[in-house]
Amino acid sequence: MESELTSPFLTIRDQPIYFQEDWSTGIGGGLWSTGLALAHYFKTEHAAKQARLDPLKVLELGSGNGLLSVCLAAWGSVQSLVVTDLDDQHLQLIRKTLQANQHILQNSEVYVVKHKWGDFETLENEAWAKIDFDLIIGSDVAYREELYDPLIASLQFFVKAKTIVLLGVTMADTKAVFFDLLAKGGFRYEKLGDHLMPENFRGTTFGIFVIRRKAGNCT
Ligand SMILES: C[S@@+](CC[C@H](N)C(=O)[O-])C[C@H]1O[C@@H](n2cnc3c(N)ncnc32)[C@H](O)[C@@H]1O
Repeated sequence: MESELTSPFLTIRDQPIYFQEDWSTGIGGGLWSTGLALAHYFKTEHAAKQARLDPLKVLELGSGNGLLSVCLAAWGSVQSLVVTDLDDQHLQLIRKTLQANQHILQNSEVYVVKHKWGDFETLENEAWAKIDFDLIIGSDVAYREELYDPLIASLQFFVKAKTIVLLGVTMADTKAVFFDLLAKGGFRYEKLGDHLMPENFRGTTFGIFVIRRKAGNCT
């Protein structure tokens, strides 16, 4: 990624972030608009106020291209970062993005691994799957109705009482039924106010949702 190294895609807390989309990778090879909104959210004053100094354990679901994980690591302090997607092509692009941003990830323990939502059989012997995550992020992951149940199953598997989930959503793709299922699955959620969204994404159909376990609903 040498050419990108001369021209950052964006900058968070004075740290340049390098990224090149590759749509030939598959559906997650390019950055989806909600991914862009979330990436820019990490630059906002509100996000800066939320930044925690203690090192976080972070999981990204359906990353596709790795950019959001890098943005998050530039925003906060990350102890462990687990970046996941379905197949080798996406994982290859994710590794490429992380490699181009080593200056941000040098103090983090990083895993790039396959995780198909709702599929836990292969996780039994995986050290990363036993991490108690502080933060789980995902952008445009609830984009088809048949994915709602498996995605929520993965949230049920990984979300503990302390875990905060930040989900970027395109309201046209993520129907109300997703939020009904989320509530039935033991989660509460709130949408970030429009005034907290990055300026270019206010008044649009892109939303950032903060999701947590309902009290007393933790496995
Ligand atoms: C719409 S893309 C979003 C990519 C990226 N998060 C973004 O916002 O730019 C959805 C991503 O979810 C992944 N995905 C789709 N179905 C999945 C499943 N059942 N389990 C895990 N990942 C899945 C795709 O491979 C893709 O990378």
